[in-house]
Amino acid sequence: MSFSLKMMNNNKSQSNRIQSVKMESAKMKSANTGYYGQKLYRKHLHLYINEKSQRNNMKQKTSILALASYLPDKKITNQDLEKILDTSNEWIVKRTGIANRHIMTDQDTVTSMAISNCAPLIEIAAKEKRAITSVIVATSTSLTMPSIACQVCNHYDIDNAFAFDVNAACSGFIYALNLANDRIKNHQEDCILVIGVDAMSQIIDWKDRSTAVLFGDGSGAVLLNRSDRSGLVAIKCGSSANGSEMLKTESKNGQSQLTMQGKEVFKYAVEKLFQAASNLLSEHHIDVESIDWIVPHQANIRILQQLMKKLCIPEHKLILTLKNHANTSAASIPLALDSATKSGKIKRGDRLLFLAFGAGFTWGAAILDY
Ligand code: COA
Repeated sequence: MSFSLKMMNNNKSQSNRIQSVKMESAKMKSANTGYYGQKLYRKHLHLYINEKSQRNNMKQKTSILALASYLPDKKITNQDLEKILDTSNEWIVKRTGIANRHIMTDQDTVTSMAISNCAPLIEIAAKEKRAITSVIVATSTSLTMPSIACQVCNHYDIDNAFAFDVNAACSGFIYALNLANDRIKNHQEDCILVIGVDAMSQIIDWKDRSTAVLFGDGSGAVLLNRSDRSGLVAIKCGSSANGSEMLKTESKNGQSQLTMQGKEVFKYAVEKLFQAASNLLSEHHIDVESIDWIVPHQANIRILQQLMKKLCIPEHKLILTLKNHANTSAASIPLALDSATKSGKIKRGDRLLFLAFGAGFTWGAAILDY
């Protein structure tokens, strides 16, 4: 049975059940059934109201109302790196697909990148008279207290929000989206801000050519709302129990610095992204051909090419910002999404597949009708 047919049948049987509970309740109310009868009537009514709100909830999807992103002004090209490292533009482009990256200036902080990012989204929420009830920030490069989420709330005077930061490394944005989806589905929230922000330049050993060429800084954000039209169709995140030594930060000379076993991470990434995508598609009976665009975490062009081959998806469906942004960790998916909607590539109604992996190892996959 197809997925949509199954959903239709589920809805039908649920509405039949509600109808019979409704009729039974009405019968009980009209009969003079005494104390226990009244109690039974109230129980039935409660069941009816619960089922009705569940049914309404099923129609509600987590939808993207608006997007924004921020990149620091300072750019570092491969040619700039040739001057400080034993590397070449040719090697970096061929092995990674990266040509440029944006790096924080003295004026930027992880928090300020997140705050700059949100300004247009806060304006849209205010214009639509929607109160932001949750702010969830995905980051692994902020050591601040209070959380960036709370600092965003302070800056924009967002009171009473469920606000916190989540660290799932480069998969952080999909983890945050998953949490926001739970708030919308289970807490009836209507307007949530999800931000991915990272300053990888702060944890890179700039003398290590095997990692220094790969990363950049930036921030991307989405304003989510409840919708009965388009939105999140499926989402799943997870982690593996044996990858924490392969990609991590270590304290070196009093500073936290990133170390990585590149080849192992590469192999894991291809395999895990493939499993995450194919499991999500098959668990939800979604045909891979219905996906219009893949919006992946931007780590290495060769990882993505191998992944597309395994998934039998043509490469022209890949949204790529890797060349100019490099790997911006939790910011990479919302940055790519914002760039592709602004350029007109991704349009309303398109079906998107988000895919990410990162230190931990963590991974996440989501399918969203934009
Ligand atoms: N410039 C020039 N040469 C470099 C170099 C650089 N920036 N970095 C490494 N090399 C050299 C190595 O020293 C090695 O030289 P050798 O053969 O003389 O020993 C050679 O290039 C090959 O190195 P290797 O590590 O085998 O290259 P690779 O093809 O695996 O590519 C990565 C290296 C890091 C690009 C690749 O492994 C990768 O992308 N891994 C995944 C990283 C990632 O996505 N991390 C983030 C996860 S969220």
